Amino acid sequence: MAGTDYDARVAEEYRLAREVPRQGLGAWREAVADAAALAPGMTLLDVGAGTGAFASAFHDWFGVRVLAVEPAEAMRSLIPRVEGIEALDGHADALPVPDGCADAAWLGSVVHHLPDLASAARELRRALKPGAPVLIRNVFPGRCDRDLRVRFFPETARSIDTYPTVERTCDAFATAGFSRVVLRAVPQQSAANLAEFADRIRRDTDSKLRSLTDDEFNRGMDRLRASAAIVPDQPATSWMDLLVLA
Ligand SMILES: C[S@@+](CC[C@H](N)C(=O)[O-])C[C@H]1O[C@@H](n2cnc3c(N)ncnc32)[C@H](O)[C@@H]1O
Repeated sequence: MAGTDYDARVAEEYRLAREVPRQGLGAWREAVADAAALAPGMTLLDVGAGTGAFASAFHDWFGVRVLAVEPAEAMRSLIPRVEGIEALDGHADALPVPDGCADAAWLGSVVHHLPDLASAARELRRALKPGAPVLIRNVFPGRCDRDLRVRFFPETARSIDTYPTVERTCDAFATAGFSRVVLRAVPQQSAANLAEFADRIRRDTDSKLRSLTDDEFNRGMDRLRASAAIVPDQPATSWMDLLVLA
């Protein structure tokens, strides 16, 4: 499946399986607030917005207007149609927005889908106001041990190894005048417990899980179910990086 090849079924499953429940995103809310002084009246550009979970969260948390750019029609059609969120068809290297329109940009689990990071960085430079930050939420090679998928399906690290590293991402953005400001790991509570996390897994919705053999996937599910039985009350906490460039 290509980076934008989501049909209606996969898009709906993505929404059910991959959207982190809002109550599990408290640390992300704080991390974003620390990295960008978002406030009502400001505009945030959400690039590769998917089904709009973060677009909605940013709108609700900070009162910002969100321009949610998403190339896959099936994903874009699930972005909530509410005042203050505009769902736009477009790609990271051809953003359908005016010059200097945004106070911050958000790229959530997107950089590994982009064919040309430097071109996307130049386009973000054009779309952002001077000094505005780019907030990247991603797993990066060599920094993914605390991602729950990697913990239970260790072979997923093989596909993460093909993702842009932090250094490669920073180098690409440096060509458009961005410098690294912050790199930190941030937790999320993906589900109330490991059993619920296991129940929500949909292999089709995750390129990392799709990259596994059936045996690797089944062994990972067995490991996850076994841990869920041993520690039934343990919250399903997963970590990803926040890389901020400005
Ligand atoms: C893993 S999803 C992440 C969605 C959302 N940001 C989230 O965190 O839930 C990756 C998204 O990037 C989009 N995408 C793929 N290639 C893209 C590109 N060149 N420009 C912008 N978005 C792209 C896909 O269509 C998909 O919706």
